[in-house]
Amino acid sequence: MAVALRDVEVGESTVERSKATPARAVSSVLQGLKAETVAYAEEVPNTGPMIGTLTGTNQVVGFDPAELPHYYITGETGSGKSYLKRVLLENIASLGYDVLSISPSDTEEVGVSLPNPDHDEGVGLAADQYWIGGDQLLDKPDDIHELFSGVNAATLKDLDDDEKQEFVNKVFTELAKIDRRDTPLFVFLEEAHNFTKGAAADAIQDLVREARKFGVHVVIVSQSPMDFNRNHKHVRENTVSVFLHGEYFDYASKFLDDGREIQDLATGEAIIQSRDYPKLRVEVRQAFTLPTAPTQNQIDRLQDRFTASTPDLKEVDTVEENSEPETEDQGSDLSSDEQQLLEFIRRYIEENDERPSKSKCYREDDAPFGSSKTQRVLDQLLETNILQKETVERYGNESQVYSPV
Ligand SMILES: Nc1ncnc2c1ncn2[C@@H]1O[C@H](COP(=O)(O)OP(=O)(O)OP(=O)(O)O)[C@@H](O)[C@H]1O
Ligand SMILES: [Mg+2]
Repeated sequence: MAVALRDVEVGESTVERSKATPARAVSSVLQGLKAETVAYAEEVPNTGPMIGTLTGTNQVVGFDPAELPHYYITGETGSGKSYLKRVLLENIASLGYDVLSISPSDTEEVGVSLPNPDHDEGVGLAADQYWIGGDQLLDKPDDIHELFSGVNAATLKDLDDDEKQEFVNKVFTELAKIDRRDTPLFVFLEEAHNFTKGAAADAIQDLVREARKFGVHVVIVSQSPMDFNRNHKHVRENTVSVFLHGEYFDYASKFLDDGREIQDLATGEAIIQSRDYPKLRVEVRQAFTLPTAPTQNQIDRLQDRFTASTPDLKEVDTVEENSEPETEDQGSDLSSDEQQLLEFIRRYIEENDERPSKSKCYREDDAPFGSSKTQRVLDQLLETNILQKETVERYGNESQVYSPV
């Protein structure tokens, strides 16, 4: 099926712009591009999703990202690392591979799949979005392996440094144990200079040394090319170099005939240096997804999608429950919404033998309301001293939990 990124006039008819995911749109654009490919550069790979064009030419450069083992994208700030990452991510998703994209300190990535002006209500890359330290969106998977299938974006914003180290260590340690030869899995790690020491760095190194055999590909993104040296030099030895603009000449000259070449690169231009292909100097194509930190409103809407509540039915149930004598004591002052949430929390504690966090209060199957309403009703119940809130440690994070007074 033809998938167009824009309305396209074909003779008398118009192919309307599609709301397909960028991943599918990319595949479609690529199919169109094949015919236009300039055939002079036989060794330039053009057998997979397009990454860009050889600098100064129309020669399309594209390959199946799973053909190369691991990647190390480096360049100074503003050189286009995150942008290139996004292009790769679109290509990877267009092939149906799985993705885990980890951003240590910003939430941009989390917004990648939110509506995009080019796609009206477009869903972009339909990532599951985790905000590990935020108690918002999907704050933490129950099982870390949930991060390894589908397209997942996780931000570590709001975790302290030890928690970030622990998370990265845990993810990479678990990744080393899985076999993804059926469906490759790509793991992007932004701001990798934060993880060049200790257990996390060991886990990253162990993974890049072994994982290719098992279909796990690591993409490290870092401003500093010297990050992984000495004890962790195998990280660089086992990753394909992707250089963007910068002035790290000595370092680059270890990999390139002329290390100064990196100085001439424009924003969004990259040198891909691997054993499999000749050196490729590429003007990275336009990305289709937008990285935008989600607004509160978008977070609320997204969260509501994860809440499978049937308010009408519950309304009826609760009216009956309200008339039970055992709830009389809090009774008459509570609104029906407050009553419902209180009941939910009581039941939760009884069934799980632990107090729910805020996200549990709206994300559980039988939770009565979506995130914003839950927040409002929780605040009311705290204010009137019906509920109390306490900070506890869970899975290495601080979490606020709620219980009746
Ligand atoms: N191929 C490209 N096409 C169009 N714009 C690009 C391209 N690459 C980068 N840009 C733009 O250049 C700017 C800097 O890019 P980007 O954010 O990717 O840099 P970065 O290397 O990740 O920087 P930092 O290290 O600060 O995170 C952004 O505004 C981005 O949209
Ligand atoms: Mg960046």
